[in-house]
This record gives sequence, C-alpha cells and structure tokens, in this order.
Amino acid sequence: MSAWTSKPPQQLAAWRQLNAVATRQRQAALPALDAERVARFSQRLGPLWVVCARQRVDEESRRLLLALAEESGLETAIQDLFAGHHVNVTEDRPALHMALRTPARQDDGLAPTAQAEARQTRQRMMALAEAVRSGRWRGVGGKPMATVLHIGIGGSHLGPALAVEALGGDGPNIRFLANVDGAATSAALAGLDPATTLAVVVSKSFGTEETLANAATVRSWFLERTCDPAAVAKHFVAVTANTEAAAAFGIPPAQCLPLPEWVGGRFSLWSAVGLPLAIAIGQAGFDELLAGAGEVDAHFRATPLAGNLPVLLALLQVWNQNFLGCATHAVLPYDHRLRLLPDYLQQLEMESNGKSVRVDGEASAIDTVPVIWGGEGTNGQHAFHQWLHQGTRSANVDFITCARPSHGLAHHHDALLAHCFAQGQALWEGRSAESRHRNVPGGRASTTILLDELTPRALGALLALYEHKVFCASTIWQINAFDQWGVEVGKQLAAPIREALGGASDGVSDPLTNNLVGEVRRLRAAQRAKMPPHRGT
Ligand code: F6P
Repeated sequence: MSAWTSKPPQQLAAWRQLNAVATRQRQAALPALDAERVARFSQRLGPLWVVCARQRVDEESRRLLLALAEESGLETAIQDLFAGHHVNVTEDRPALHMALRTPARQDDGLAPTAQAEARQTRQRMMALAEAVRSGRWRGVGGKPMATVLHIGIGGSHLGPALAVEALGGDGPNIRFLANVDGAATSAALAGLDPATTLAVVVSKSFGTEETLANAATVRSWFLERTCDPAAVAKHFVAVTANTEAAAAFGIPPAQCLPLPEWVGGRFSLWSAVGLPLAIAIGQAGFDELLAGAGEVDAHFRATPLAGNLPVLLALLQVWNQNFLGCATHAVLPYDHRLRLLPDYLQQLEMESNGKSVRVDGEASAIDTVPVIWGGEGTNGQHAFHQWLHQGTRSANVDFITCARPSHGLAHHHDALLAHCFAQGQALWEGRSAESRHRNVPGGRASTTILLDELTPRALGALLALYEHKVFCASTIWQINAFDQWGVEVGKQLAAPIREALGGASDGVSDPLTNNLVGEVRRLRAAQRAKMPPHRGT
C-alpha cells in the first residue's frame, strides 16, 4: 500500500462514489456557465490566473474529488514531501527541488542542509554566469565568450531550453545540443568559433550515452581547431552529481557545479542545470524565476486542499483520465515563446507518472498519467484541432497564454488571445448544424492559465504549479513520481546493437534487430563499393 493510505485507489469510498457520479454526469447536460460558476472555478496564484470553469465538474463531483484527495492522504503526503521524507521510495531518496528556490537566509524549516547546499552552489553558479556575461571569462585566445553550447538531454536539457527560449535575455548566444544524432551535433557546432565558445556539459549521472558522445565530439572539435590542450579547461564547464567522471573528462573541479542526488533531472531547472538561463538573463532574472516557484511552493505547502491549486489541477486530471474517459491531455501554449512547453511537460508528467506499479509493489488496476502532447496556438488550429473538436475521443486541454505581450504589435496579440479564448469556447459549447458533418459536439473540457506577462517570476510559478500537480496525481494513483526505471532496458539493449553495427560482433540475439542491422551493413557496404578508391599520399 502507499505510505499514506491502506487501500488501493479504486477501493477508496470516494473513488467508488465518483464512478457512480461520472456515469450520471456523462449523460447530463453541461453545467451552466454563468458568472457565478466562472468565479467559483477561477483562482489567482501570484502571477497566474487559472480558470477551470470549463471542466465537467459540478459541486457533487468537486466535493467527492476533494474527499478522494483526503482519503488518499494527500495532506500528509505534501507535508512528507516538504519534510524531506524519502518519497522516492524505489531509490530511497527525498525529492527536495523546493529547497533550490527558498530565498537566502530564510529559515522555514525546509531541509536546512539541502537549502544550505543549494545556496552554496547557486553562489558559484551565479559567479560563473556573471563572469561569462561580463566578458571576464576568457578562452584560450584571450577572447570573451560569444556562445554557450549547452550539452545535455531529457531533464538536463528540456528545462533550460524552454526557459531560455521563453525569457530570451541579453547575455551571449545560447545553443542546445541534446540528440546523439550527428546531424544535431553538426548543426549545433555550425558557424561557431572555438575561441569564443563555452561548452556546458549537463548530466546528473555523467553517464548518459548521448551527452557523453556529444561532449567528446565537441571536445575533439575544440582540440583540433585550437591545437591547444588547455582548451578543455578553458572552454568546458560541467553540472553533475558525478564530479569524478567530469574531472576524468578533463573539466577542472572549480568548473564542476554539483547537482545533489535529491534533485531529479526533470525537476532540476532551479539548480545549476539552469546555468545557461542564468548566463542569458543574469542573477536578478534567475532570482525572480526562483521567487515565482517559491511562491507556489508556499501556497502548495500551506493551503488547505479545497483551495490548493496544484491539488485541484491533479484532481481534474484524475477526473478526466479515470472517470470521464479522456485518454490524452493536450498542452496548448498560445505564446510562441512557450512553444517548448508541451515537450517539457511531456517529460515532467510522463516520465514521472507513466507507471503501472504502485508504491506497494502491486500492479495498478487503474490508468495513471494520460498521454501528454500539444503544440503552440494558433498553428495547431490548422492541424490537429480538428481532432480536438470532432474526433471520436475527447482530450483534456490546457490553454496557456499571457495577458501582456513582450512586443508592440497589439493587434497581433489581440488576434492570438481571441483565438485562444475562442478555442476553449468552441470545445465547450460546440455547435449544432443541420449537416452531421458540420456538427461540433462540444462538452470538451479545458483549463485556461493566463499569465500576467511572460516574466521569469511567472514562468517559475507556472512550472512549479505543474511540478506539484504531478506529485499530487502520483499520490492519488499511489505511484512513485520520482523514478524512471522504464527507460533503462532500451539503454542496455542499445550497447550490443551498436557493436554489431560497427562490425565488432556478428549480431545480437533478436532476429528482427539482426535483420535491420544486416540490412544497414549491406547498404553501407554497397555504398563503400561505389566510392572511388582512396589514393594514399
Ligand atoms: O533516460 C532518462 C533520463 O535518466 C532522465 O530522467 C534524465 O533527465 C535524462 O535521462 C538525462 O540524465 P542525465 O542528467 O544523468 O544525463
């Protein structure tokens, strides 16, 4: 059983009652969307205005969902999370990403050792970021850095990439390299001058194949072009929990920023993993990001369940997924700068809650996280929104947009917002038409999150809101949000296949893989045979 309840979710009284209510509600008319309902289902949290009035929830289901949260022991789970209990049970670790964003010298009783560690590293990170921003950091030729090349994948990539894209900044140019695909590596290096490039290798484990392969290629690129063995020391920084491996790679200890074991990759933007963002926007901006997230932490920790926004969003996800039959959840940012948000949330939600075994080791008898997908509006309206409006399955949708733009094209912003709001209305209201082909059924749920404007504070608050929502949903589903064992098998299988592709072995045991490997080798050999003979000197 979970640490917090003694029964699996589907046996809880509230779960059973919700089943009955959902059956009735699926056939019932939509709740009337009057001003009272809108007010009841709207809430401000710092820079975020969150409207859930177009969710298929009425007073009865709302009451039962809150009862489910209570019965699931969510209040205790939240306190356990903040108290640093080992909520990551399979790895026997706490999950203390909140300790990364508490203001300096504030004694709030949250894991003081973790907070002290976080502050120390943050000071080092900021000093490094300022050295790069100010031009004090010099490369082998004595020039300041014009480009920062961030090398990392998954949680060591998606957060910084999203945040840099969203917030821009006035620092050096920031590039990201994640995929092991050589095309990505070549594109990332194209046009760069090694004398003015700083590589930041981010890997909690310093053992991820893609990141190590890219880091090694970039190191060779530096050494070949500078012909100076000092280039690695002057042009590489690491962020890792495995400082020994980073040192073995050639990065001086003073340039290795530690990543604590109690921070999971997908929760790590707030740590030294955020270095490229700190370089892009500077200390004041980064502090604002942390402050926005900290505001949500304070709300999450102290607010009773009924007014606790991450709790409510998690309950709506459970309601849509487990009771109303929405198998997917679409994330639709109506802001070009937030276009990487669907990718980021896909990892946050699906790597956290894509599990089918409960914390007690038993198979889950209910569905856990839905498929998370999406894309920026308005582009999606001319692509997949047709499915959202008239497809055979309905999705739960999050619209995310900003009240104030960062540009002066007011009429563009009005058009963007108008489309965003219209999509929510169309999904909910639908439209009856004489022709069944033109009929839009409506009754499709959405939540709208309106940011005042896309500031570091608002982004910090938005991402922390989703982080805590993920934890709440995991608690209700009774799964561990903080491990990711499922990704390991593929990694292990890839090693012998790579050897077979390179000719170091005859093949692997799986016949289909062997067939593909054989075909690749045959095609490569045919290509080699066509090439003109190499003339030696
Ligand atoms: O393979 C999945 C994963 O372990 C993610 O959880 C993680 O964010 C990513 O790989 C990168 O890991 P690392 O930071 O150790 O390179």
